[in-house]
Amino acid sequence: MQDKINEIEKSIDDAVKDVESSKTLQEIKMRFLGKTGEISALMKNMREVPPEQRPSMGKLLNALREWTEERFNAIEKRIKEFELKRRYSEEKIDVTLPAKVTDDGAYHPNTLIRRELISIFSGMGFEVFEGPEIENDYYNFTALNTPADHPARDMQDTFYISSDLLLRTQTSAGQIRVMENKKPPIKILSPGKVYRSDDDATHSPMFSQMEGLVVDKSITLCDLKGMLDEFAKKIFGAGVKTRLRPSYFPFTEPSVEVDVSCFECGGSGCRLCKGTGWIEVLGAGMVNRHVLEGCGIDPDIYSGFAFGMGIERIAMLKYGINNMKLLFEGDTRFSKQFKG
Ligand code: PHE
Repeated sequence: MQDKINEIEKSIDDAVKDVESSKTLQEIKMRFLGKTGEISALMKNMREVPPEQRPSMGKLLNALREWTEERFNAIEKRIKEFELKRRYSEEKIDVTLPAKVTDDGAYHPNTLIRRELISIFSGMGFEVFEGPEIENDYYNFTALNTPADHPARDMQDTFYISSDLLLRTQTSAGQIRVMENKKPPIKILSPGKVYRSDDDATHSPMFSQMEGLVVDKSITLCDLKGMLDEFAKKIFGAGVKTRLRPSYFPFTEPSVEVDVSCFECGGSGCRLCKGTGWIEVLGAGMVNRHVLEGCGIDPDIYSGFAFGMGIERIAMLKYGINNMKLLFEGDTRFSKQFKG
C-alpha cells in the first residue's frame, strides 16, 4: 500500500509541475480527488481490506488525502495570485495615452441642400408636405394632365410595379394630393426621392426632387419669377440673376425652364456654364387649368404656379461636384468636405 501511495504522490508532483491555469489545476484535482478519482478509488477498496488492517490503512489514506488537498490548495493560491497579476498588467489603462480618434461622419451634401432649400422656402411661408414614393398612375401622370397615350410619358422612363403602381418619377405627384385635400390658398414644398430608369455621370435611377406649389387668387408668372429671383440669390449668391426660357410640361401652361447667371464666372462664360454664362436649374410654370379643375379648384377664380428642381443637381452645382455617383457612395471622406 505504501508503494501505491508513493506512486500517487509522485504522479501528483509530476502532474502539477507545469500547471499555470486554475482550469488545468481543477482537472488534475478531479483526476485524484474527484468521485471517480484515484484516491477515492483506493478508499473504496477499503472494503476488501482485512478488518485488522483497516485502521492503519485508513490512517495512511486519510493522510494521503490531506497531503493532496494541501498540495492543491497551495498551488491554487499561487496560480490565483499569478493570474490576478497577469490581469492587472493586461488591463492596465495608460491615462497619458492620446484619445482614440473616432470617425464622426458628416451631413451628406443632399441633406445640407435639402435643409437649406426648406429653410429658404419656409422663410417665404411654404409648408412641407411629403407624398408617397410608390404612386399610382393617376397621381404621377393622369391627374398631371398626362393621360396614358400622352407622348410626354416618354420624357420619364418609369419603373412600374404593376400596370397601375409605379415608383414616382416626379414629386409633382404630391401637388395633386395636396390640391385634392386643401383649398387655396396653398403654399407647399414637397421634397423627396424620385425614380427614373436613367444612369450616367449626371443621372441616377434614384434621385431627389423638391417641388413647390402656390395656388391662390390672382397668382401670375411674375410672382413665380420674383420668388425664384429671391431663391436664386439666397442659394447661389446675391449677384445671381434668373431668366425664364419657354419649355413644355403637360401640367403647366405656360411652362418655363429657369436658368441662373453663372455664379462661377459671373456670366462671362466658363467650364461650369459651358461658355454660355447661364446654368439651367429647374422647371416651372403656371399650373395648367385642367389640373386645377381635376382637383376641384375653379381655374376661373384661382391660379397657381409650380416649380420642381433636382436636389442632387443643385448640390453638384453649388459644391462643384462633377460626378453624381459620388453622392451615392456613402464615403465619409467625401461628405466631410461640405459645410452647410
Ligand atoms: N416635374 C418636372 C420634372 O420632373 C419638374 C416640374 C415641376 C416642372 C413643377 C414644372 C413644374 O421634370
